[in-house]
Amino acid sequence: MGSFKSAAGPSVPKASEITPEAFFSNRRRITGTLLSTPGIALGLGSMPSVGSAASLAVPRPLGAQPSSWRVMDKPTEEHHFLSYNNFYEFGTDKSDPAEKAPSRLLVDPWTLRVEGLVAKPQIFDMQELLKLAAVEERVYRLRCVEGWSMVVPWLGIPLNALIKRVQPLGSAKYLQLVSLADEKQMPGLRSDVLQWPYREGLRMDEAAHDLTLLAVGAYGKTLAAQNGAPIRLVVPWKYGFKSAKSIVSINFVERQPTISWQKAAAHEYGFYSNVNPEVPHRRWSQATERRIGEGGLFAPRRPTLMFNGYAEQVASLYTGMDLRRYY
Ligand code: MTE
Repeated sequence: MGSFKSAAGPSVPKASEITPEAFFSNRRRITGTLLSTPGIALGLGSMPSVGSAASLAVPRPLGAQPSSWRVMDKPTEEHHFLSYNNFYEFGTDKSDPAEKAPSRLLVDPWTLRVEGLVAKPQIFDMQELLKLAAVEERVYRLRCVEGWSMVVPWLGIPLNALIKRVQPLGSAKYLQLVSLADEKQMPGLRSDVLQWPYREGLRMDEAAHDLTLLAVGAYGKTLAAQNGAPIRLVVPWKYGFKSAKSIVSINFVERQPTISWQKAAAHEYGFYSNVNPEVPHRRWSQATERRIGEGGLFAPRRPTLMFNGYAEQVASLYTGMDLRRYY
């Protein structure tokens, strides 16, 4: 489709340099001072391995091999990615996640439970997850349903590597992805703006598409708490809310699962949520977008592209579907 270029890469790191060690060395442990903070001390009670200290997310360098999935647009400056966020578990203001998540979200130990209609259900820790496939850097557009966009150099593994490992049964037609919901760590759960835990879903062919990424980092580092550490979904042709953050479980199911935003307002947020400039949101047009970091509020808006610019790769997934009905 012309907007991708092959990765002319800097040096490709050796597999041994991309290893999960990035997650396990030099991490910030909960020490005496933090343990005396009531909320955090309580949080430890819910951690799986009693007796071992739990760690907050501190972005650390993470090696990755360059991938050919790179849009030509200039990546958004990292400080915007780190400070302008949606992570309602920490509050609904754009500044809440960066203010509240880094000192509260415990990411190690972390497990991802993969279950449901699969031959080999498994509980992965981060180390096991990162052995499924080489970590790749992919530069994707992120288009939020609210009308802004960014360009992010993600680090992650294709979700299809995990799907292959657990061996879905023929009856598995959809995946449901569930984010962490821990009131001790997440002050936003006191609000009923959404039903918790945050739930998202994909059809099996969407989940297995090569573009669908389980992101473990961005901008050359492990993920910051506010961006959904230690593991989040990224589906670049769909609106940003499909990319569930801080995922704790993936369930393979037969029927289309309910997703949190659809529960909150079914007439405004559909299951598919493919970026589509021709289908307006009930309350605003989706024809244009504001690229964060480009000249402030009064900068000219960019036209939004069908499937966020990934039509060539994904349009065939929806052949014969009325995209106005299945929004
Ligand atoms: N995941 C969870 N668990 N909770 C959320 O509130 N917000 C979504 C998505 N994933 C959200 C979430 C929305 S609306 C967007 S646009 C993206 O995360 C924003 O990701 P970013 O803050 O890393 O740019």
